[in-house]
Amino acid sequence: MLIGVPLETAAGETRVAVTPETAKKLKAQGHEVRVQSGAGLAASATDEAYVAAGADITDRAGAFSADLVLKVRSPSADELALMKPGTALVGMLNPFDRDNLAALATAGITSFALEAAPRTTRAQSMDVLSSQANIAGYKAVMIAADKYQRLFPMLMTAAGTIKAARVVVLGVGVAGLQAIATAKRLGAVIEASDVRPAVKEQVESLGAKFIDVSYDTPEEKEAAQGVGGYAKPMPQSWLDRQKVEVAKRVAQADIVITTALIPGRPAPVLVTEDMVRSMKPGSVIVDLAAPAGGNCPLTVPGRTVVQHGVTLVGETNLPALVAADSSSLYARNVLDFLKLVLPKEGGFQVPMDDDIVAACLMTQAGDIKRK
Ligand code: NAI
Repeated sequence: MLIGVPLETAAGETRVAVTPETAKKLKAQGHEVRVQSGAGLAASATDEAYVAAGADITDRAGAFSADLVLKVRSPSADELALMKPGTALVGMLNPFDRDNLAALATAGITSFALEAAPRTTRAQSMDVLSSQANIAGYKAVMIAADKYQRLFPMLMTAAGTIKAARVVVLGVGVAGLQAIATAKRLGAVIEASDVRPAVKEQVESLGAKFIDVSYDTPEEKEAAQGVGGYAKPMPQSWLDRQKVEVAKRVAQADIVITTALIPGRPAPVLVTEDMVRSMKPGSVIVDLAAPAGGNCPLTVPGRTVVQHGVTLVGETNLPALVAADSSSLYARNVLDFLKLVLPKEGGFQVPMDDDIVAACLMTQAGDIKRK
């Protein structure tokens, strides 16, 4: 199969969908890989490295005219115009963006959004949400440590003692767990909150304290179970009690890292303006929910601002700030997904009896197929 790998053009996007490592594997499987010149540069992969892996270097039109196009982000309108009907596309295509899916369907693209893969054991190796959120959680702590004008670890020096930073993590999915682990390695004292009680044990096993909020009604208990591993919106009664507990911790915190998301909905507000006002000057909030509106109403997506003496980081693409490793994990996710649609027996297939393929298929033959 002829596989095209374009240079990503979305603002701030530095990742690439195929690395020299995965290009070599695709080549070994008998595919022809055409990489747009410069596609991997921002992720530290040179054209020469792709050539050494057996790929050919092409231009933009050459990459988009392949039979299978591997991307990080959804193609723009002018990129779609370069793709012929029937082209297969794999990427992070934003399954909740119906307008985008409609554009892909109209262009006759057979598209697969990897974010839509189920959170099952078999799908783990192609789980782009996990591979990228893990990196985002790490980078959030790195950014916080950089913006914070104090140290993370407790230090006892001849010139006096420095207290350990207090970190509060709100939302403990993949990103939150990595943020806890990273902050812990830097010596911080950490507390964390999540709606899902199953998370408590994971938080404690990383050496952080779980902020307990009781589940008082059958409705609260039911909502806390979530659906498919994801959180569901919690009843207001529970959110009110959570707010009281979170407010106490945020007022004491030096760093707050928020990652709370509910798929397909605006992010829940967990850090109110009053809470920001209660924080010490010089504190830092990194809001990983910024792309979904933010967990703090003062977050400005895509920007870092200072409000009430607190630095709020609204970076919307943290994995792109760690382009080499995020590309390397993403490219492996893509390669693993391709095993399902490019079986060894040859030929591109869309096996709808495969739950992962069926969940990821967004558009085919002019129709939106998203479940
Ligand atoms: P996510 O990015 O959708 O959300 C982040 C976190 O925010 C979640 O833990 C969620 O419970 C929490 N949250 C939502 N509303 C909140 C609120 N009001 N207050 C506090 N926290 C709130 O989550 P992510 O990282 O995508 O993980 C989702 C689930 O998928 C988790 O249960 C995770 O363990 C599971 N998972 C399963 C995998 C597998 O079995 N293959 C792989 C990766 C994740």
